[in-house]
Amino acid sequence: MKPLVEQLSRRVRQAILQMGADGDPLVQAAQDPKFGDYQSNCAMGLAKKLGKKPRDVAAAIVERLDIDDMCEPPEIAGPGFINLRLKPAFVIRCLEAIPPCADPQEDRVGVDRASVPETVVIDLSSPNLAKEMHVGHLRSTVIGDCVARVLEFEGHTVHRENHVGDWGTQFGMLLAHLRSVKPEVVDQPDSLVISDLESFYIEAKGRFDSDEDFKRKSRETVVALQGGDPTTHRLWMAFCVESSRHCHAIYDRLGVRLVDRGESFYTDLMPEVIARLEAMRETRNDGLVRVSEGALCLFMEGFKTRQGEPLPLIVRKSDGGYNYATSDLATIIHRVEQLKATRIIYVVGLAQKQHFDMIFAAARQAGWVAEHVSLVHLGFGSMLAATGRPFKTREGASVKLKDLLDEAVARARNVVERAALDQTRPERSFSEDQIEQIAERVGLAAVKYFDLSHSMSSDYRFDLDTMLNLEGNTAPYMLYAYARIRSIGRKAGVDFTTLPGDAPIILEHPAEVDLAKKLLQFAETLDVVGRELRPNVLTDYLYELAKVFSRFYDRKLGVRVIDASPDNVRVSRLRLCDITARVLRLGLHLLGIKTVEQM
Ligand code: ARG
Repeated sequence: MKPLVEQLSRRVRQAILQMGADGDPLVQAAQDPKFGDYQSNCAMGLAKKLGKKPRDVAAAIVERLDIDDMCEPPEIAGPGFINLRLKPAFVIRCLEAIPPCADPQEDRVGVDRASVPETVVIDLSSPNLAKEMHVGHLRSTVIGDCVARVLEFEGHTVHRENHVGDWGTQFGMLLAHLRSVKPEVVDQPDSLVISDLESFYIEAKGRFDSDEDFKRKSRETVVALQGGDPTTHRLWMAFCVESSRHCHAIYDRLGVRLVDRGESFYTDLMPEVIARLEAMRETRNDGLVRVSEGALCLFMEGFKTRQGEPLPLIVRKSDGGYNYATSDLATIIHRVEQLKATRIIYVVGLAQKQHFDMIFAAARQAGWVAEHVSLVHLGFGSMLAATGRPFKTREGASVKLKDLLDEAVARARNVVERAALDQTRPERSFSEDQIEQIAERVGLAAVKYFDLSHSMSSDYRFDLDTMLNLEGNTAPYMLYAYARIRSIGRKAGVDFTTLPGDAPIILEHPAEVDLAKKLLQFAETLDVVGRELRPNVLTDYLYELAKVFSRFYDRKLGVRVIDASPDNVRVSRLRLCDITARVLRLGLHLLGIKTVEQM
């Protein structure tokens, strides 16, 4: 199925063209169901262009609108809104066209792939390998993974790039320390195990700050590493492999797939970046590339200091060294020219907004990025402690991401155990293993869902009580909603997968119609998430769907399901249950959340 908004837009556009005009049909879901399901707001803009009254333009569009198979006769409201209400017969046809689910892994619940598949690079997570992953890495990892899942689902080729910090002066200190405490690593790099990376870093830093001789050694080690000295390189490799192993333990636990391609990968490309820019300095006369105070700089149009002076982007420091900007210009060249990406998404905190604004402008003004290639900084706000302060330990250190996840799982376990003790629900008696597994899933789901459900640019407070609440827009509520529908199937004695795929859908009760229409909004929701990269649009949709479903299943407000009669009505309602469960499962999967069958 194509998103309904898209189908309706096409029809409205045809009507506009038939008037001899052109313009965006501006179709969107209606704010208030009183006015229909969708509305087109194009008449106002067109009227201005054509010098006519908006309501007359709306009437002219409606007159030419061929939409009889999808909608009731359109209505014109207010200044010239065109209100569209779907016909139940059309809704039924769309739902009946959703094929049964043969394999949950492959289930698309009737959603089409994108018609033009792209190659997308997502730069996500990207911790510094010198240290342990901390809470600050959660957002990029979770948001990047969700965006990657949605774009992959849409049929795009996605490269998930973990731009780890594996290069730079701090490695001199770490490797010098490593060499002195574990000299055997030089000959047996595979033997290296550092159980606590954080204290290893602190030890090394302590020596660096207090011991002149060690400081000198550290500096020599950086030079040796950059000069390609084989022994230093082996030590470096061993350290990075070990540190990356720590990260991947967390990625595995979170179900996040990605490929490490850190800063060191770009060391060969950075001289190339500089060479290209040096050439431009000589051949171009627009002053983009200039030397200022010994540093090689780019001066892009549109960037000024507070004093109104041109703002430089330094790409080679006066001491000849490269910096963060140089390596990110290299990432653009690699991703555009080697990976052939047409969409490059950097999932990095908003604190780096200016950095990305500048390197994107630089790459474009240097002519390295064709117009059809999009560069996106998907910036996000900070995750704060529940108190609203920065997330730190009592001593002021970073909180390890692993500790945060462990705590969420431990707290989720309380919730699950309490539910398991609920005597009124005999279905919920779990073994110790089951409790463990459910708690792990619920805990991680709570953390991810809470993160993704916030609008990306705002800060939020990490509040376990709220995120583990069984009521509201939370993971436990969503997981429970899914498990509940699955239990309806069990109680009805049907295996949803064997419901006849050709059994008719019957929509009589308003609660059935509402549920059916909500289900059809899934495709257009994903479309928005894929275009605008806003996971909270998906969480909001899933939450609304769960609420509409609970009205459908409500004793008073809704319909009977398990004991509905006649049988064709019962089967139709069970099919609605099945499709709802599948949309919830798929939607949660795209958020990176695994469902549970019972909870
Ligand atoms: N390692 C960097 C940091 O911790 C994030 C890297 C983001 N990706 C990039 N291509 N700059 O700040």
